[in-house]
Amino acid sequence: MPQRPYVIDKMISAKAIAARIEDLCGEIKAEFTDTDKLVVVGLLRGSFVFIADLVRELDLPIEVDFLEASSYGDGMESSREVRILKDLRGTIEGRDVLVVEDIVDTGYTMHHVIRLLKGRNPAKLRTIALLDKPTKREVEVKADWTGFEIPDEFVVGYGIDFAQRNRNLPYIGKVRFT
Ligand code: PRP
Repeated sequence: MPQRPYVIDKMISAKAIAARIEDLCGEIKAEFTDTDKLVVVGLLRGSFVFIADLVRELDLPIEVDFLEASSYGDGMESSREVRILKDLRGTIEGRDVLVVEDIVDTGYTMHHVIRLLKGRNPAKLRTIALLDKPTKREVEVKADWTGFEIPDEFVVGYGIDFAQRNRNLPYIGKVRFT
C-alpha cells in the first residue's frame, strides 16, 4: 500500500525502556512472589518485543503464552472491533495470569481481552502495558502497571507498527508526516 512519506522522531530511548522494565519487574515480582507458575500472556503482534525483555527481567517461574488480537488493520484508526486471531495454547483456570500489552489507546483491545480471559476463571489476572495514551480512551480500562503515559502521538517501534512497518526499531518513535 503506498504510504504518505514520514520520518520518525525518537520519543523513548531503548535505555529508558530497559530502566523502566527493571523497575516494573520489581513490583511484579512482589505481586507474584507466591505464585507457583505465572502464565505471562503476550498480545500479538505488538507486544512481542516487550514481553521478550520483560520475561528475561522477571526472576520468577513462568510459562509464556500468546493471544493474537487485532483491531487496527493497516490504518491509524481503531476499528473498535477486536478480533481474536489466535487463542491461547494453554488453560488459565485457577492460574495466575499477567497480560502483556504494548499500548492502550482507545482501550477496546485490553477491555475485550480482560473480559475474555476473566471468563476462563483465572485465580488472579493482572495487566501491564508499556505505553498508555489516556487522552484517547473510549472504554474505561487501565493496566495494573504502565511503563509510560504518552500524549496523543502515532508511535512506532519496540514492537509497534505503522502498516506493519517499523516494529523492529529498538526505541519508541513518533511518526511525523513530511
Ligand atoms: C494495537 C496494539 C494494541 C491495540 C491498542 O494492536 O498492539 O493491541 O492496538 O489499541 P486500542 O486500545 O485502541 O484497542 P493492533 O490491532 O494494531 O494489532 P498488532 O498488535 O498486531 O499490531
